[in-house]
Amino acid sequence: MEITIKVFRYNPEKDKKPSYKTYKLEGIETDRVLDLLEKVKGYQDGTLSFRRSCAHGICGSDAMRINGMNRLACKTLVRDVGTKITVEPILGLRVIKDLIVDMGPFFDNYKKVMPWFINNDPEPEKERYQSPKARALFDDTTKCILCACCTTSCPSFWGSDEYLGPAAFVNAHRFIFDDRDQAAGERLKIVNDVMGVSRCHTVFNCTLACPREIQITKAIGELKMALVDGKLD
Ligand code: SF4
Ligand code: F3S
Ligand code: FES
Repeated sequence: MEITIKVFRYNPEKDKKPSYKTYKLEGIETDRVLDLLEKVKGYQDGTLSFRRSCAHGICGSDAMRINGMNRLACKTLVRDVGTKITVEPILGLRVIKDLIVDMGPFFDNYKKVMPWFINNDPEPEKERYQSPKARALFDDTTKCILCACCTTSCPSFWGSDEYLGPAAFVNAHRFIFDDRDQAAGERLKIVNDVMGVSRCHTVFNCTLACPREIQITKAIGELKMALVDGKLD
């Protein structure tokens, strides 16, 4: 089948403004959008730039807007989006070139929630025991691959990249609800900042965009409840 792919193009070092370039190519319904971009780059236009690494939905590097929705190019099939496809960079981050954006502000926000395990007790002889019930409290939020599909689909982030954003909240949740960790109170203070969860207006774009199907809005709700309850202080 013939597939038409219209791609956002912009090289800030050369172009006065962004434009779109349309490519036609042969493909099949199980081709992934990443396969199409590779074919364009390999056979039609070597100047096209995009990020990719694993090609299997694990590294999180190929988030882009495909027909207006944030998705991973390596997990999006032609049969999911049709044969007329528009590909653009994710929103709210500076375009470096074509589909490549500056992920700096996204990772700065991620680091602010201290996304690492904190426990100052002496190490136990064996493992730090955790019951299946306690683990289940944060199981969902362990699945994040830091692709930024969620944060860059959130209107609050489009308003300001200082807004911590859903990905940072997901990763704060992962540690705040881990009963082996000892810094829940500190992290709750961080997500309670003026650029924190109060700027989430339950828009749900983040949950719809997440390629790992993490229930992000639910997790943010749990953070808000923990702040109200003061349970984790
Ligand atoms: Fe990507 Fe989902 Fe993690 Fe957001 S929560 S960065 S959409 S994997
Ligand atoms: Fe944004 Fe998700 Fe909240 S899209 S407003 S973080 S529910
Ligand atoms: Fe790694 Fe798509 S290339 S997630």
